[in-house]
Amino acid sequence: MELVHTVEGFRKALDGERCAGRTIGLVPTMGALHDGHLSLVRRAVQECDAVATTIFVNPLQFAPGEDLDRYPRDLERDRSLAEAAGSRYLFAPSEREIYPREPLARVTAAAIEDSLEATSRPGHLDGVATVVTKLFALAGPCRAYFGEKDYQQLAVVRGLVIDLSFPVEVVACPTVRAPDGLALSSRNAYLTDAERRAAPVLYRALSAGEACIESGERDPTTVSRVMRDFVGTEPSVRVDYAEARPGDQEWRLFVAAWVGTTRLIDNIAVPVGAGPLGAGPVRS
Ligand code: PAF
Repeated sequence: MELVHTVEGFRKALDGERCAGRTIGLVPTMGALHDGHLSLVRRAVQECDAVATTIFVNPLQFAPGEDLDRYPRDLERDRSLAEAAGSRYLFAPSEREIYPREPLARVTAAAIEDSLEATSRPGHLDGVATVVTKLFALAGPCRAYFGEKDYQQLAVVRGLVIDLSFPVEVVACPTVRAPDGLALSSRNAYLTDAERRAAPVLYRALSAGEACIESGERDPTTVSRVMRDFVGTEPSVRVDYAEARPGDQEWRLFVAAWVGTTRLIDNIAVPVGAGPLGAGPVRS
């Protein structure tokens, strides 16, 4: 695996692969790689000729007071994990390499401005949109792999491809969970042992929402309340939001909560389109 630090080196490497007729898989990350990231790399390896994993802790997507400074960084560990998963390149640029000056041009994620992460973390999705735009511009035509755990991020990235005409096919990959249901996240590393034991309440709350829908409930407010109340059963966890978003074929359930000083998010899909329960009208 080749470790690349410069924008020019990254562009050249991927242009060279394409010139040789090889397809590119891009896996953008902020490092602190875990099995969720590695599932993206492995899938990209299966579907593309050359895979480039990127590691950049993007300051634009952190608000002042968030965890930019303490975000876990361990390039040597990430390097061996990415290599073992089959990545051909690891692009790990410095902040100066990505943002050589205060950006004049930034990308905004306007369509989803007032919901979930956009409300709880103003500016976060714009920061994601800006850095992903840069990564797409550098990588060129490719397939890009993103996890469904960051569901709104995925929606923003899909929007970028459509609105800014990137020659990129976005591939959504399922959330990877620990055996107790906790969605894998680099931020799980912040949790104390007691917090780690409490954290699966997010997934259990989503499952409670799912059970509610499966038993025939079709009022999103009721489902949201069930999830919120469920998180409330864990005294050390403070809910940020719990929301059910109905759809014709499936509902999407979202939870964000503070476990100690660590903010975690999760979501699941609940199919409603098929079978006897799905046939009923959606009340809202
Ligand atoms: O999901 C992440 O790790 C980041 O938000 C991303 C997509 C790499 C952009 O910084």
